[in-house]
Amino acid sequence: MTGLNKGNIKLFPDNKGWNACKRNAVKKAIALGTAFTLLTASCISCSPFNVEETSSNMQILEPEPAENLIRVGFSQLGSESKWRRANSISIKDALTVDNGFFLQFNNARQTQENQIKAIRGFISQQVDYIAFCPVTEDGWDTVLREAKDADIPVIIVDRQVSADSSLYTTWIGENMRQEGENAGIWLSKKLEELGKSHDKINIIELLGTRGSSSQIGRSIGFDTVCDKHQNWVLLDRDDGDFTTAKGQEIMSGFLEKYDDIDVVVCQNDDMAIGAVQAMQDAGIDLYSDEKPIIISFDASRQGLEMVMQGIIDVDVECNPASGPQLSEVIHEMEQGNQVAKAYFMNEEVFTRDNASRFVDDRSY
Ligand code: AHR
Repeated sequence: MTGLNKGNIKLFPDNKGWNACKRNAVKKAIALGTAFTLLTASCISCSPFNVEETSSNMQILEPEPAENLIRVGFSQLGSESKWRRANSISIKDALTVDNGFFLQFNNARQTQENQIKAIRGFISQQVDYIAFCPVTEDGWDTVLREAKDADIPVIIVDRQVSADSSLYTTWIGENMRQEGENAGIWLSKKLEELGKSHDKINIIELLGTRGSSSQIGRSIGFDTVCDKHQNWVLLDRDDGDFTTAKGQEIMSGFLEKYDDIDVVVCQNDDMAIGAVQAMQDAGIDLYSDEKPIIISFDASRQGLEMVMQGIIDVDVECNPASGPQLSEVIHEMEQGNQVAKAYFMNEEVFTRDNASRFVDDRSY
């Protein structure tokens, strides 16, 4: 598969192409029933992606898909960051009618409750596959069991869940723990380069959505390296929910509280942009050697531009382009082929040395 590493691979043999048969049976039933279950016209917005898009406070409505299209219900957790918007576009671009899909795309606006509601809606519509990006790690067992009881395969995308792995078919996403560890390893080398390996280093962290696997993984990964350095002091950390506004707000608070911050770890570029704004407002010269070291994640276009300007010191990539892999996995399952239990996206680490080579190709 393109752009993927198979990791922790455990083959999953129980998808023997039965969905194609099930789809035909369901379609016959649908054909006898309602052609449209459209409840209110406002609930569906036409999109350039050949998808039916709903937001979570709306009822999921469904015009009948053409014969033989694979019906996928996708619950996106929200649109909190540029990364997330790129991920949604990647899914929509891949699961097109031309590619054999009828996609129902739901935006849960950052709440698990909305995601569970959307997934239950997909179950009651008997879609062929359910895919979702889970906002948090915990709390999915019940709804996943409901999907399993309804014989609908579930594919987890991006973040991970803590649920029993027999309740979903596969996961396609990013190695958050490795990302956090890469950030820590980079910092350790940088401090060595600066001759500061033994200095006291004061660190603050702007965390992503608390309880999400991206927040948990990046924190654990970074802490693993942090624990090896007695002289690294974690002054404070707070939840910035992966948004620019919260990043700015938290950073302003930290700057009022501490005047000796050496390193700022922002768990995504959107929060880093907010943090940089707060530093600028506080009169910090972002182009001087005296500024705090800034570590960020995602490697968006704006993030890489800030790396090239020397504002962000390192940007650890989180790859949002999982749409093609999702499409490929579903096509494999449709043919009755075995799929792996986990697929990791390829990811890089960007500094001033290599950012310029990649910035123009960034879609987000
Ligand atoms: O789960 C991926 C993370 O979620 C990205 O780092 C962040 O930008 C997004 O909101």
